[in-house]
Amino acid sequence: RKPKITVVGSINMDLVTITSRLPKLGETVFGDRFQMNPGGKGANQAVASARLGAHVRMIGRVGSDSFGKDILRHLQQEGVDISNVEPVTDQSTATATITVSDQENSIIVVPAANNDVTAAFVESKRDVIADSDIVILQLEIPLEAVKKAAEIAKANGVTVILNPAPIQELPSEWVPYIDYFTPNEHEQTMLKKSIGAERLDGKLIVTKGSQGVFIHDGGSEMNIPAYSIDVVDTTGAGDAFNGGLAVALSRGLSLQEACRFGNAVAALSTTKLGAQTGMPTMAEVEAFIKKQAQ
Ligand code: RIB
Ligand code: NA
Repeated sequence: RKPKITVVGSINMDLVTITSRLPKLGETVFGDRFQMNPGGKGANQAVASARLGAHVRMIGRVGSDSFGKDILRHLQQEGVDISNVEPVTDQSTATATITVSDQENSIIVVPAANNDVTAAFVESKRDVIADSDIVILQLEIPLEAVKKAAEIAKANGVTVILNPAPIQELPSEWVPYIDYFTPNEHEQTMLKKSIGAERLDGKLIVTKGSQGVFIHDGGSEMNIPAYSIDVVDTTGAGDAFNGGLAVALSRGLSLQEACRFGNAVAALSTTKLGAQTGMPTMAEVEAFIKKQAQ
């Protein structure tokens, strides 16, 4: 049967400007291109998991504007079950203003309707969360809502992956509810500061881009190297990893194997512009891993 994955989290419209040069403060430059792409860490992780063949339910909110409608249509086309995404009338859909340059990407997120994914809203979706193999969470919705989702999941024996992004301090009371934390380098520093390295042992998977991921277990770090590939856009690569990790774990792979699989999903995701466009199918990942092994 298909793994049942529930994503509780953000849904954004990504407003992407591609430029060869970033403006200095107060300066204006001409950019190369502009695109609007469906994004948001939650929705990206949902699309990644759905393309890999999981049965994916998204719990979240959009505004009652054209971005919201476009995004919902898009998620549905991707095969994501959106019956638990409820539009909010007095809010706009969240946006992420992204600049992609030769140097690094920068992102400004305006949460808008994502702020209406409250703890009470999540509580109203208790049955959906309980009926999952894995729940994936991030930090683009209110923290109490993330905590509520993790509590409900844990109480029902559902595996919880928390992608603690964007960077935020977390209370150490969260640790028992989370099976895996998947921060990037910067987020891991904050996590260790707010929670303590020992308490995270056995639960911590740090993603470090081209260096691959590091599993922290038994007081030591194990590196699962990244696949090297020609990168077009790294936006959403972390989300691709999380989707891949969730699908692989729910299919019974070991943590190491699941991280290797997640690395392949992340690598392939960077070959196309946009957070969701490059999310690979299961067949594409399998073919890629096979080719790499030759
Ligand atoms: O992780 C990438 C995502 O972060 C983008 O799609 C953007 O919406 C931001 O939330
Ligand atoms: Na991409």
